[in-house]
Amino acid sequence: MKVYAHRGYSGRYPENTMLSFQKAAETGCDGIELDVQLTRDGTVVVIHDEAVDRTTDGTGLVKDYTFEELRKLDAGTIKGGRYGFCPVPSFEEYCEWASQYGFVTNVEIKTGVYYYEDIEEKTLDIIKKYHLEDRVMFSSFNHLSLERLKELAPDIPRGALLEHAGLGNAGYYCSRYGYACYHPGIRGLTEETVRNCRDHGIGVNVWTINDMESLENTYEWGCSGIFTNYPEICKSWLDHKG
Ligand code: G3P
Ligand code: MG
Repeated sequence: MKVYAHRGYSGRYPENTMLSFQKAAETGCDGIELDVQLTRDGTVVVIHDEAVDRTTDGTGLVKDYTFEELRKLDAGTIKGGRYGFCPVPSFEEYCEWASQYGFVTNVEIKTGVYYYEDIEEKTLDIIKKYHLEDRVMFSSFNHLSLERLKELAPDIPRGALLEHAGLGNAGYYCSRYGYACYHPGIRGLTEETVRNCRDHGIGVNVWTINDMESLENTYEWGCSGIFTNYPEICKSWLDHKG
């Protein structure tokens, strides 16, 4: 079972910052999950919420900031500032850094609330610039973004993100629409759903696994991967399992 660091090593370090990504890479995890949005001047940036308020010392919407303005905000404040100033990374900065590693990046396109014009093309262009096509997968709660990415880059795997695990016959849904994986939340996920996906040749990558019971269940059920804020703990538990 693969371990993806959710927003980097976000259990300990400020989420979706280069520091949390560097610390995740040091754990030897299999991949990193991050979220992308677009600034007012069209820069693809790595940040989870549509508003900057929760994760930085600023206020307002990402889409109303220029990249230069956004860079002045401190995304380190979410961990009490103990790691110093941590800027919001551009996706390009992330890709340049990630190109030295072999791990997979799950790029989650955050178009569920605001639709960012051409974010799919812009994100893909950066991935291509750093030759990361074979080390990324896409996911989104907005399946229209994933449809667009299927047209643009059919060979890059896509995971169907769902808020709740209760999609009946998820394996059929994913295979019918060409998804490599199903990405359900853990709440309500059952062994039967995992089996249904596996029967259709669909992997199941589950979020967000931050407790031992969920880790054991996803492992026993044969999930292909988990997203966790604590990649170090999950990795060492899995290593002990052999
Ligand atoms: O991609 C898995 C997970 O990140 C989806 O939820 O809200 O943490 O982006 P969220
Ligand atoms: Mg995410």
